[in-house]
Order: sequence, then structure tokens, then C-alpha cells
Amino acid sequence: MSQQFDVIVIGAGPGGYIAAIRAAQLGYNVACIDEWASADGQPMLGGTCTNVGCIPSKALLQSSEHFEHAAKHFGEHGISLKDLKIDVPKMVARKAAVVKQNNDGILYLFKKNKVTFFHGRGSFVKAVQSGYEIAVAGAKPETLTGQQIIVATGSSARALPGLPFDEENVLSNDGALRIQAAPKTLGLIGSGVIGLEMGSVWRRLGAQVTVLEALPTFLGAVDEQIAKEAKKAFDKQGLKIELGVKVGEVKSTKKGVTVAYTNAKGEAQTLAVDKLIVSIGRVPNTTGLNAEAVGLKLGERGDIVVDADCKTNLPGVWAVGDEVRGPMQAHKAEEDGVAVAERIAGQHGHVDFNLVPSVIYTSPEIAGVGQTEQQLKAAGVKYKAGTFPFLANGRARALGDTTGMVKFLADAATDEILGVHIIGPMASELIAEACVAMAFRASSEDIARICHAHPSLSESTKEAALAVDKRTLNF
Ligand code: FAD
Ligand code: NAI
Repeated sequence: MSQQFDVIVIGAGPGGYIAAIRAAQLGYNVACIDEWASADGQPMLGGTCTNVGCIPSKALLQSSEHFEHAAKHFGEHGISLKDLKIDVPKMVARKAAVVKQNNDGILYLFKKNKVTFFHGRGSFVKAVQSGYEIAVAGAKPETLTGQQIIVATGSSARALPGLPFDEENVLSNDGALRIQAAPKTLGLIGSGVIGLEMGSVWRRLGAQVTVLEALPTFLGAVDEQIAKEAKKAFDKQGLKIELGVKVGEVKSTKKGVTVAYTNAKGEAQTLAVDKLIVSIGRVPNTTGLNAEAVGLKLGERGDIVVDADCKTNLPGVWAVGDEVRGPMQAHKAEEDGVAVAERIAGQHGHVDFNLVPSVIYTSPEIAGVGQTEQQLKAAGVKYKAGTFPFLANGRARALGDTTGMVKFLADAATDEILGVHIIGPMASELIAEACVAMAFRASSEDIARICHAHPSLSESTKEAALAVDKRTLNF
């Protein structure tokens, strides 16, 4: 006899667990299935984000940033340290403890919201009169029936053709977060978000890092002016980034990895490194779902095809997060999840991709929301731009972190804010003000007229808004 639920969510990453909680808040009887397990078979809720993504990467970024500050910047504050050392296994163990707190936090939230959790792989069995039958393959196999199904199975690292991850020498994001000693030399394929964040961690801890990127432009999706600043900062830090390369044969032996590639000038090169991280994007997790059993439509990339409302081709089956269209970001997956739960309840859940911020947690941090200058130019939109450098901000000077700027783009006629781009300290936090302003369709003058605390980094946001009208006060 199968257990009946109103809503079954497959996957407990940020898309799935948030959808499950929101559906439960709306009064539904909800089950959530997730297969992620620790080495001893315990459930690890939270998906890629919690286990091998957002949370552990930020823990290592924090530890490595502390180390770099202690090594390079404490002296300016009159603090001297002798025999500074980093205990990498301890750093990695701290990261694991942070992950565990988040895993347990989600289990607690499920109990609080009365979401029933099943540990194992969820897959479609068949359509039935009351919805769909879903099998759970795990230590305790179960069959569930749900009226509404939300698929939130996420994504996994894409490997180079013919080069599977061994997680010893050739690493995905998973292995990259478990390295136990800083390698002397580290190679990364792909200078996207993971390449820059992971490259930064291991560079700070002493690795000589080389990043090989296929595209001729650096961070093509980021506002060009901001991307240029970022490249300058990374060059200065010694992060070697080669653009426009064509990666050829990669050989992995016990001693390390060699990558044959052609550089932008067409010259044949070889990179020999102790370890190689391959960060060339991610592929949707849909192979274990038995989608064919019910005729769930998949796209060419193995993604689940959905409409603007996250509806699949099947009545009562929805899909959210990394395995559907849109940016692969945890907060976008969460927004999808909330919107779908609300649509199931007959409400009007809505996600505006233009207002989904993106952040790269390097130092300096890079954050943006809305349109970039190159996008506005391409669309023929008339705009005004204003920038303010952190060099002229008192708080940034006191922090000793003056790299970068805040940039505003506003409509030339109406002054409505069209995009905000930040490179610099705490850009990840500062961008929230821009998201709020743009959600309320504020003008740059609105921000320029709001009192911001002094001294604070957020004054740079106000000053950049003033710069749109060419009337900065501190620059
Ligand atoms: P996932 O988090 O991938 O979760 C899917 C879950 O479904 C997993 O637990 C999986 O085990 C489970 N599952 C899959 N198939 C089945 C099945 N058949 N049955 C049962 N369970 C199944 N995004 C940000 O916004 N900010 C960041 O700072 C950030 N940092 C990142 C750093 C790294 C190194 C990586 C790799 C990613 C990062 N991301 C970040 C991206 C973010 O992790 C993803 O966008 C997010 O996790 C997507 O959420 P999701 O719920 O769609 O999928
Ligand atoms: P990405 O899409 O950010 O970058 C991949 C890079 O690899 C691109 O620049 C691409 O041109 C390059 N590339 C692809 N094939 C290549 C090849 N054969 N040789 C050389 N270069 C090649 O993907 P990444 O870094 O793997 O991250 C995956 C996803 O995870 C991203 O979509 C991102 O949104 C998410 N993520 C988000 C973070 C955040 O929000 N802070 C942090 C880390 C990941």
C-alpha cells in the first residue's frame, strides 16, 4: 500500500527543500525525497549548495582569506605574527562541520513544518488516477503516491570528454573542496564562477594557479567595466588566467596532470600541475528519474523542459532549480520552489530573472543585478552611467580594502535603475539594496536622496547613484 501525499518533492537542495516547506506552510501534506548520503549512509540534506557548493566553498574562502590577511595585511595594522601556518585538514574539517550544521538545520525545518522526509532515490513508476506513483530506492524502499510532483534534482559537474573525475588528481567541485594539502601547482579548466572561487582558495594557501579558459573574453556575462577591474585584480594577485585556449589531451598519472592546449596565438603549450580542477559548467541530474515511464519531456541537455511557470509537459508535474532553464544559482532555485508551491495553491508565484542577483565570492567580490552596459548597448537602450570608487570611501579605507567600484546604469529619460554592478568589499551584501530598489522600480535619484549610514560601504552605492547625475559629493 503506497503512502499518499498532496505534494511529493524529489530533491532536497535549495529548490526542493524550500518548495517542500512552502507547500507545507500552505497546508499540504508534503513528502520530500533526497538520496545524498554521508560516508556512513546518513542523509545529508541541502543538495549541491549545502554539501559541495555554496556553503563549503564560502567556508574555505573565509578560512583562506583569514590566512592571506594574516600573512599579508596584519602588518599594516601593527600586528605581527611569527611562524604563521595553515592546518589544511583542520580547515577542511571546519568546513565539514559548517556543512553538517546546515544539513541538520534542514532536517529540523522539515520536522517543524511537518514535511515527511524519505532518504533514497526517487523515480517515477507510473501515472495513476490520483497523480503519480513514485518509488523510493534506499535502505527502506517505499512507494508513494502524490497528486502534485515537484522535481528538484539539481545538477552535477560536467567532465571533459574522455576525462572522468577521479577526485584525486582530476577534481570536480566535490574533490576541489576536499583537498587535504595545498598543491604546489594547480590547474583549472574554465574561468567561470567555480574556477575563480576555487582558484582563489588554493592560491591564497600557496598554490601556483593557472586557469585555462576557452573564451577570448573574461567573465563575458559580467558588466565589461567590472570584468576588466576584476581581471586587473586577479592578475595582481598572481592568479594566472589564459583566455582563448583550446584544451587538447589531458593525461593524469600518479605524479600529477598534464594538459596539452593551444593558446590564443595558436601555439602548442603544455601545463603540468599537481592537481586539476575541471569547472566547465554543470549538467542536469535527470538520469535516475525514470522520466520515460511517464513521458516527462527532457531537452537536448537532459534538462527538464518547463514553461515560464515551471510546468512540465505533464499535468501536476513541475520542475525547479538547476535542472531547468535560467541561472544555476541557489537563490533562483529557492524562488522557483516558492513560486511553484504558491501556484499549486492557486496563487500567483512570480520570479523575475532580471532581478536575480549574481555574486562571485572572490576578493574583491563581484556582484550584479539587472542589465549590463553591453546588454543595454546591444538593445539600443539610452542610459546614463555613474560610478564611485571604493578608494574614495572612508569605511573602505579604514578596512584597508579599497579595490573596485559601484556602478549604476539608469534609463536616460526616466532615470529608472536598469542595472547595478559592484566589484569590491562586501559586494555580495551591498547588491541587496540594488535588488530592493529595482524591485520597487526606483530611480537613481531615489537612492541618491536616501540617508546612508556613515562611515559605511553602502555610501558608495549612494555616491554611484549621485554620479549618474554627475554630482558625487566625495569624489
Ligand atoms: P541541488 O542543490 O543540486 O540539489 C538537488 C538534490 O536532489 C541533491 O541533493 C541530489 O542528491 C538530489 N537528487 C537528485 N536526483 C535525485 C533522485 N532521483 N532522487 C532523490 N534525490 C535526488 N549558487 C549560489 O547561488 N551561490 C553560491 O555561492 C554558489 N556557490 C556554488 C559553489 C559551487 C562549488 C557549486 C558547484 C555551485 C554553487 N552554486 C552557488 C550553485 C548552487 O549550488 C546551485 O544552483 C543549487 O544548489 C541548485 O539547487 P537545486 O535545488 O536545483 O539542486
Ligand atoms: P560557469 O558556467 O560559471 O563557467 C564555465 C567556464 O568554463 C566558462 O567560462 C566556459 O567558457 C569555460 N569552458 C567551458 N568548456 C571549456 C573547455 N573545454 N575549455 C576551457 N574552458 C571551458 O561554470 P562553473 O564555474 O563550472 O559553475 C557552474 C555553475 O555553478 C554556474 O552556473 C554558477 O552559476 C554556479 N556557481 C555559482 C556560484 C555563485 O553564485 N557564487 C559559485 C560557483 C558556482
